[in-house]
Amino acid sequence: MERLAADLRAVVDEVSPGTPVHLLAHDWGSTQAWHAVTHGALDGRVASFTSISGPAREHVAAFYRRARRRDRLRQALASWYMLLFRAPVLPELGWRSGLIGAVMSRRAGVPRPRTADAVRGLELYRENIGGPVGAPVRTDVPVQVLAPADDPFVTPALQTQIAPYVDDLRVRTVPGGHWLPRERPDVVARCVRELAAHVDGAAETPSLRRARAVAKGVGRWVGRVVVVTGAGSGIGRAVAHAFGRRGALVVAADLNLATAQETAFETGGLAYEVDVSDGAAMAAFADRVAAEAGVPDVVVNNAGIAVSGPFADTGVEDWEAILDVNLWGVIHGCRLFGAQLREHGEGGHIVNVASAAAFTPVAGLPAYCTTKSAVLMLSECLRAELAGQGIGVTALCPAFVPTDIVSSARMVGVDESTASEQRRSANALILRRNYPLSKVAERVVRAVERDVALAPVTPEAHVALALSRLTPGLLRAAARIGQ
Ligand SMILES: NC(=O)c1ccc[n+]([C@@H]2O[C@H](COP(=O)([O-])OP(=O)(O)OC[C@H]3O[C@@H](n4cnc5c(N)ncnc54)[C@H](O)[C@@H]3O)[C@@H](O)[C@H]2O)c1
Repeated sequence: MERLAADLRAVVDEVSPGTPVHLLAHDWGSTQAWHAVTHGALDGRVASFTSISGPAREHVAAFYRRARRRDRLRQALASWYMLLFRAPVLPELGWRSGLIGAVMSRRAGVPRPRTADAVRGLELYRENIGGPVGAPVRTDVPVQVLAPADDPFVTPALQTQIAPYVDDLRVRTVPGGHWLPRERPDVVARCVRELAAHVDGAAETPSLRRARAVAKGVGRWVGRVVVVTGAGSGIGRAVAHAFGRRGALVVAADLNLATAQETAFETGGLAYEVDVSDGAAMAAFADRVAAEAGVPDVVVNNAGIAVSGPFADTGVEDWEAILDVNLWGVIHGCRLFGAQLREHGEGGHIVNVASAAAFTPVAGLPAYCTTKSAVLMLSECLRAELAGQGIGVTALCPAFVPTDIVSSARMVGVDESTASEQRRSANALILRRNYPLSKVAERVVRAVERDVALAPVTPEAHVALALSRLTPGLLRAAARIGQ
């Protein structure tokens, strides 16, 4: 380690004799860089250090002493190859025969190393693992850890539980495997650029701020950005509260700015006025969110309206109105924020608020049911597309919950007095049921945390979903009730 650290010092002095450097290191390179940063070899020479999949040896030792048993066990299983690499003769045979190369490249998905390099690399393991190491040495160098979520060799827990030893730490768990610098060089470069610019005097970007909050380890949602459309009322407002209470920065968006502002005030978040059905307005909104709050971690496409009445009475304008909000609103949200999440490369989650109406046909509700069914299928397809990028998609399917949706619904095919009577009796029914909005919101948080594809809410929604799969004929018969 001392010789490797001295080598690194020589390189730093050569490339940047006058000014400290921004150091980016991966795997053994990172373990070696940690040593150089914390044991004097690079004192005063490092402006920032970004570490990927290569913890300090002292951090590893402390991890095996202090981490939760589950985390330790997972890491021990991931480190199986280390025992092999430290054995005499066998690993050389393994590399020369091509066996280890085949196994490792299958697990990590990268080309095999050259045999000579691999054989020489064994000395790293023999010299530097297993001997006595001291306690972790504190550093005041600004550090950023990029922990690949699916690293089969170095688990995120091992890399990230180092807050006690680093004064100025940022942690990002990034979708990807051990060879993240190969898989997502753009993401790695952006993260390093952000930290380097900040250390050199630029403002802290929202995503750096979030990484600093995450490093403190005070709950999963602290510092995360959650966008909620239709956040001025009902389900949207309750969802905003649930994430806000957990420390997330809530971006409350609504057609009605005043109600969005109330939600933002209550949650300590930001308010935006936007019509989700307007593609250009949504594009401007998404750009503003990225600039002012940062690329979101969670997007809840919730804004929606209802149109009630028979198909024969539902005019083209009625169809356009509901399709524009309930379907296009969700499409715009998925397109614009989905693109941001993909490019950002740090994962995320999209929740599309559909309804139990998505799988429950109802005579007299064709327009609403159609939009919700479309949202459900859109969510399923998108989920399949985004799975490889660490972005989850959930379709939320509540049944009846007490909100303003019925009061503001368009009732077609009836005069105004019948419409108000219909609204009154529907509201009375929903109020009698009185399913708590806070429970809907908790369901959303849980669905995101567990990456659930389809989340029915309320027992009725669960029953309807089961019936739609087991005995759709029964639901078809029930759909005709009241006709
Ligand atoms: N309440 C229920 O029983 C129920 C059941 C299943 C699904 N849902 C769905 O939940 C979602 C939220 O509805 P809710 O019940 O909370 O109703 P709500 O009327 O209380 O809230 C809807 C919010 O969306 C906003 N909004 C409407 N059109 C918008 C637009 N074009 N752009 C931006 N914001 C707009 C409204 O201003 C309002 O603040 C909807 O998608 C709805 O279909 C509701």
